[in-house]
Amino acid sequence: MRFLSECAAAVRRALPDKCPLFVRISASDWTEGGWDVEQSVELARRLKRLGVDVIDCSSGGNIEKAKVPVGPGYQVPFAERIRREADIATAAVGMITAPAQADAIIRSGHADLALLARRTAARALLAAARRPRARPRHGLAGAIPARRPDRRARAHAGHEID
Ligand SMILES: Cc1cc2nc3c(=O)[nH]c(=O)nc-3n(C[C@H](O)[C@H](O)[C@H](O)COP(=O)(O)O)c2cc1C
Repeated sequence: MRFLSECAAAVRRALPDKCPLFVRISASDWTEGGWDVEQSVELARRLKRLGVDVIDCSSGGNIEKAKVPVGPGYQVPFAERIRREADIATAAVGMITAPAQADAIIRSGHADLALLARRTAARALLAAARRPRARPRHGLAGAIPARRPDRRARAHAGHEID
């Protein structure tokens, strides 16, 4: 907590006031005795006092054998609880794959933002693979295959690829 707090405070000092500061956290280790959402709420309260604007609520990643119940919107409850209990804006992430799903998360007040990763990356990769001469020059350019990605790569990049 101390390291992150010191980093957040230093970044806040360096950023213009008008620039929002997001912090991504792993809200739970999904493991008995590990980091949990109660501690994440406490962390979020502290980060709010330091000038952090948004907590981006991911989870897992630290304990290899943790059983993570991966499924559509599986991390949204972290965004909802941290938002409610720490009174700070949150971003929901993880298997949000459709505009209607993202819209429902925001409208229901479960989070202030919905972030999409693999779904958008998959679209960009497939679009680039279909038009090899028009590949983007920035961002994903280095990760773009010269031809249509194979089944494994596509499965890794997204769940329901058109
Ligand atoms: C290949 C890959 C690399 C990722 N790298 C990072 C990372 O470096 N840091 C991070 O916080 N999340 C990382 N993530 C997690 C994504 O940012 C996102 O939270 C996750 O993929 C869940 O959202 P999605 O279901 O929309 O993809 C990565 C995900 C993938 C698939």
